[in-house]
Amino acid sequence: MSTPNRRVSALKTARDRALVADALAVRARAYAPYSRFQVGAALRTASGAVFTGCNVENASFGLTICAERAAVTAAVAAGECRFEALAIATGAAPPAGPCGACRQVLAEFAPDLPILLVNDRGAVERVRLAKLLPRQFSSPRALRRR
Ligand code: THU
Repeated sequence: MSTPNRRVSALKTARDRALVADALAVRARAYAPYSRFQVGAALRTASGAVFTGCNVENASFGLTICAERAAVTAAVAAGECRFEALAIATGAAPPAGPCGACRQVLAEFAPDLPILLVNDRGAVERVRLAKLLPRQFSSPRALRRR
């Protein structure tokens, strides 16, 4: 399903190394006083721009915003809807994948998005969204809009 046990330093392209660095950097800004589980996400769009997000928790737990969806909304608000790659940084080993809700939100824009899962110890796994979310829900209306 994914390539396990690679090191961030072994990533071949400078732009993927930079994307991972951005995800790790924004993870430090996570507001996660309840779970203490910090997440950073860095989303590269077709223009080459990178949009980042971190998780933002709330005393009313259900209002928590995931890092990945924060990055998606930042990109869309900037007028960028063509996603090229996503890096997700956590402190989990092995590196954690995106939650189900974030998978569906990402699939709205890029059903087979390449994803780099990284952790704070320098481990990285490559996976594609279609493997994480086969047969996504897709509205005929959404397809017509593209
Ligand atoms: N979280 C994310 O930011 N992204 C995910 O894909 C999974 C979970 C956050 C939500 C919450 O603040 C913390 O991680 C623990 O679930």
